[in-house]
Amino acid sequence: MSMDYLSSGFSRVDGSQDPGIFVSCLQTLSSLPYFQSYKKRSFQLLRPEAGCRILEIGCGLGEDARAIARMVGSEPPGRGGFVAAVDASRKMIGSARNSIEDAETEPIRFCLADACRLPFSDGAFYGVRADRVLQHISEAEMAFFEMARVVRDGGRVVVYEPDWGTFIVSPGGKEVSRTMTRLFGDNFPSGWIGRQLPGLFREAGLGKIQVEAHTFFTGDLPLAKQVFDLVNNAHRAEKLGNVTESQAEGWLADLEKAHSQGRFFCSYTGFLVCGEKPFR
Ligand SMILES: C[S@@+](CC[C@H](N)C(=O)[O-])C[C@H]1O[C@@H](n2cnc3c(N)ncnc32)[C@H](O)[C@@H]1O
Repeated sequence: MSMDYLSSGFSRVDGSQDPGIFVSCLQTLSSLPYFQSYKKRSFQLLRPEAGCRILEIGCGLGEDARAIARMVGSEPPGRGGFVAAVDASRKMIGSARNSIEDAETEPIRFCLADACRLPFSDGAFYGVRADRVLQHISEAEMAFFEMARVVRDGGRVVVYEPDWGTFIVSPGGKEVSRTMTRLFGDNFPSGWIGRQLPGLFREAGLGKIQVEAHTFFTGDLPLAKQVFDLVNNAHRAEKLGNVTESQAEGWLADLEKAHSQGRFFCSYTGFLVCGEKPFR
């Protein structure tokens, strides 16, 4: 079995040696104020009113889908709104299903499905949302056009994706640092999807497009090591011959030293984009 990297492993969580690292990465991220804040904003853009049918793509552990279900499902059972949430991983769908407290009353269904081949008819949903999913899909455009297909006329598509070309880590010499951040970004199946989103919304014929840039930064090295896989990535750079062993070890040691002196810093920018399907 090959090594699990966070950058490439989310596209096949079920085939990984330790799916637990993906689960704990998602739990850590969703506990951070930055993530809570852009997620809340993405819900506002989606406008999930009571009674609406919403689709969540790549739902992971299902927390966001459940939050949306609380917003749309406040009507009497049977007449209220509903959330369908899909993910390509059995492990993720299993965890999401286990998080449901009352399957009878929560207006939500978790299904195993590939974002590139959604098992829904055209125009089936009032709103469709994806959060950090397209970056993990090599055919990201196909998945995006599927989202646009299943939203109804007048409905909204909301997507948040990082662009890993914006990933920076300090300190570090320019060449080694560039090698490390580039290797990390290039290991995502679609690591530049962030910058491509506005164009994709236009190409899919969506209107009223709104684009927001949300920049994450932290000075917390243990957190960055967990969520940006800094150590595994440095060892991969060494294994691939992109840096020498002493450069990789030196870079990691510099980060530790900087952290102990309060000088560690890293950041990336994610793009939150919303568009509406025009009435024909
Ligand atoms: C980084 S996680 C994000 C999960 C969740 N949206 C969140 O914000 O916590 C990416 C999710 O996309 C799922 N995924 C990857 N490729 C997929 C595909 N082709 N179709 C559907 N889901 C996919 C993964 O299994 C994983 O749960």
